[in-house]
Amino acid sequence: MKNHWDSFNKLDKFYDVDSLRLIRKFIIENAISVFEGACGNGYLIYSLRKDGYKGKYLGSDFSDGMLKNSKENNPDEDFVEIDLTQKINLSDNSFDVTVVDDGIYYILDYQPVIEELKRITKKYIILTYESDFYDGKDDFVIPGGTSYKYNKDKFYNFVDNIGLKIIKHSLMNEVDTNNLKTYQKVIVILEKIWP
Ligand SMILES: C[S@@+](CC[C@H](N)C(=O)[O-])C[C@H]1O[C@@H](n2cnc3c(N)ncnc32)[C@H](O)[C@@H]1O
Repeated sequence: MKNHWDSFNKLDKFYDVDSLRLIRKFIIENAISVFEGACGNGYLIYSLRKDGYKGKYLGSDFSDGMLKNSKENNPDEDFVEIDLTQKINLSDNSFDVTVVDDGIYYILDYQPVIEELKRITKKYIILTYESDFYDGKDDFVIPGGTSYKYNKDKFYNFVDNIGLKIIKHSLMNEVDTNNLKTYQKVIVILEKIWP
């Protein structure tokens, strides 16, 4: 799985979409420090800086190829190798906001991942997901792929039980201007209510 991402071209995602604009606006209004998991080619911080974000940033991904691209695209930013399924080597409450954009749904066992993200986050966790959560009985693998859909109620109950409040859950229509295709994206913003 990790090798799958290592060879991705750095131009793979360098287009803007509404969910990213929303994420950037939220960060600029609410954060002076951001941790990003599964940062891919580093477009979020590239576009955040263009929008005037001056705060701290740490990007991470588990793919060497992606990290190399991120660094080339953002030579002044810090990036580290982190596999989100493992314990993260950062202190509690290290960053105001944690973002995982189009990354969480490659992991079926998302609960320990979100607990770990919550531990290192002071205020908000932002997750995005291509297409809406599955409303059926079980989490399942999207046919033919390596990504997963989550059971929406189970996801909501889980985050509620660990002290995260869903303050936004929107389904957005996006246009990939590189490939001229449209798709739907879910953006979820979780607020840390208790440690
Ligand atoms: C679809 S790309 C999204 C990249 C970027 N966030 C964006 O929106 O352009 C998915 C990314 O998730 C990363 N990824 C997948 N599983 C991961 C894991 N367990 N830990 C860290 N990164 C992971 C891949 O290496 C890849 O960079």
